[in-house]
Amino acid sequence: MNEVLKTMATRYSCRSFTGEQVELEKLEAIALAAVQAPSAMNRQPWKIIVIKDKALLDEMDASIMEKLSQSEDKTMYERMQSRGGKLFYNAPVMFVVAKQKNTELDTGIVTENIALAATSLGLGNVICGMARMIFETDKGDYFKEQIIPEGYELGMSVLVGYPTSNEGTPHPADTSKITYIG
Ligand SMILES: Cc1cc2nc3c(=O)[nH]c(=O)nc-3n(C[C@H](O)[C@H](O)[C@H](O)COP(=O)(O)O)c2cc1C
Repeated sequence: MNEVLKTMATRYSCRSFTGEQVELEKLEAIALAAVQAPSAMNRQPWKIIVIKDKALLDEMDASIMEKLSQSEDKTMYERMQSRGGKLFYNAPVMFVVAKQKNTELDTGIVTENIALAATSLGLGNVICGMARMIFETDKGDYFKEQIIPEGYELGMSVLVGYPTSNEGTPHPADTSKITYIG
């Protein structure tokens, strides 16, 4: 198997990070992989924001957990508590893909580039759709001002860092989903 296929086969959603900061060269390599993604008519309708300020990530995490704890349906809060009580799993870095309107597919492709690049560098990573809750908290406007450039909206986020030894594993490949014609 070549290196690209090996990376795809070994990627998994990491939900337990040591919190140790990731070297800048690795973050730069991931960011470069992100902006090398294809896009419709090469419009590149994104901005990549790399949040490596752990205090800011912890502040955002705590705001979301507080909001979840106050919601009537406690399912999500309890699920996150059972996973260590942190929505961002103690990751030291969040890659935010800020997008222009109606560019979901482009956003998805960039997001996967980030996840695969991180995996190829031996880093744990997890795509985090729940991060959009940041903007639904009391400090939502304050967070938005710091993170999302004017004219853009949140597309997706990917948490990146070193995994704890309590790692996950890649999901089994369901080859029944594949059909060949001809
Ligand atoms: C669009 C999208 C949003 C996701 N959001 C979250 C999330 O907020 N939190 C989380 O722990 N995992 C999230 N995931 C990870 C999925 O749960 C995970 O990819 C799926 O269970 C398959 O597991 P695997 O990534 O280990 O193969 C998300 C994945 C995608 C593609």
